[in-house]
Amino acid sequence: MSAGAPRASWSRAARTLVKRALEGVVRGWTPRVDLPLSTWRLTRDADGALELGGRRLDGLFAQWGSPLYVVDEMRLRENAARFTARPEGAAHGCEVFASYKTNPVPGVLRTLHECGLGAEVTSAWELWLARRLGVAPERIIFNGPARTDEALAEGIASNVGLINLNTRSELVRADRVARQLGRRARVGLRVVPPGGAGGQFGERIDTGAALEAFREALQQPHLDVLGVHAHYNGRIDSAPQLSQFVGALLTFVDELQARLGLRVQILDVGGNLACPTVHTLSRRDLRLAQTFAREPTPPPVDEVLSIDGYVEGLVRPVEAHFAALGQPPPRLFVEPGRALMGNTQMLLCRVASVRDVDEAGVRWAILDAGINVAEPMTSEFHQLFALVEPRGPGRQLYRLTGPTCTQADCLYPAWRLPKLRPGDGLAIMDAGAYFVPSSTCFSHARPGVVALGDGAPRPLLRPETFEDLVSRDEPGAVLRALHAVGGGP
Ligand SMILES: Cc1ncc(COP(=O)(O)O)c(C=O)c1O
Repeated sequence: MSAGAPRASWSRAARTLVKRALEGVVRGWTPRVDLPLSTWRLTRDADGALELGGRRLDGLFAQWGSPLYVVDEMRLRENAARFTARPEGAAHGCEVFASYKTNPVPGVLRTLHECGLGAEVTSAWELWLARRLGVAPERIIFNGPARTDEALAEGIASNVGLINLNTRSELVRADRVARQLGRRARVGLRVVPPGGAGGQFGERIDTGAALEAFREALQQPHLDVLGVHAHYNGRIDSAPQLSQFVGALLTFVDELQARLGLRVQILDVGGNLACPTVHTLSRRDLRLAQTFAREPTPPPVDEVLSIDGYVEGLVRPVEAHFAALGQPPPRLFVEPGRALMGNTQMLLCRVASVRDVDEAGVRWAILDAGINVAEPMTSEFHQLFALVEPRGPGRQLYRLTGPTCTQADCLYPAWRLPKLRPGDGLAIMDAGAYFVPSSTCFSHARPGVVALGDGAPRPLLRPETFEDLVSRDEPGAVLRALHAVGGGP
């Protein structure tokens, strides 16, 4: 045995002792308090079963299986109405374009279009979907950092309302594609306000690159330069943040007029308003949860900028700015994703198995949903409820992991719940933003999506079948074999 071995085992033992000692302290400091059920219009019946609109949620498993995404249609319509509302006394409100990438479930998008929203698309596929859903071309904004000439041609030929170009090199390409089609393209340019980190997105205002890009755009014969486009770098959750962002854009709009004689017709401020019940967990939060089983704390919901506050915070300063110049304001476009859809959907799942406290003091619950269907949870706080909560005390601290064979598949490193048994149901809240598009078929088929509204539950996407998963098998061998043994449809 090497001389280092006893020292190593001593230091491991010491670390365990310190950890155990601190664990009690850390847990004692930070008891988690659930956000109220009413935040999501949820209630519990006399048996402690979770309900939405008077319907027991655990009853959905029998027909649609588990896991399952459930859309709250009323909340979806409510959020849409808030974004489109014109603030009192204002001449105009915002023109609202649903961010397709956030939750590309056709049934969800159809509802948003019924509510008067347009489509914000970022790829040829999303553009295709918007056209198939019958969105009028002038109600489509086409964004995206990596569009091929073919995708640009599709956007120009279908006469979409606005194509926001991402870089100077893309504007030259867009002009060429428009010329080849014998058309003109209605374009905006994406800019990065001072202090923002643009990365691959947009041209910076503070380096002068954005102004130069506009100068170049105005020289292209086949582009109609209509708009300034920006997307906030990070979550907008307070009025001062929004005000600073809008102020920087208005300063740039003035500069375009003064230096290039361009009157901006469309100011498109992107998305990024926070969903009030979700926040990003810091690395510290995650470490504390993993190492000391400290439960995460919910965001300060009442302090987060509301949809109404956001619309006010956009419309008022823009109107005031142009009133002072004696000019009509530009059209104000917004492209919300997370604030529009985040809290309108939940993910129901079930406990597959439980393991009692192990040698490290962790009690495990292994779920049928994990990072394969809930990827944003690797860095976000999401409220979790038991589908049936027994009356009385007796909660236990669990580590909740998913069904894929990787240690990274952990949804909740620490969360207190009633005693769990296999088959028990759970509801992960705020699964309406980026859950569906980032879901994968990693070892499991993807869940269905069901909408709850006034009437009976309405399927929006059926659960994926194993046949779906092999439907692109080129020689077709798997499906043929399936049919040969009578297993196919
Ligand atoms: C250009 C653009 N618009 C809108 C959105 C939607 O953003 P959010 O979900 O943060 O509202 C995004 C998201 O990345 C985006 O890049």
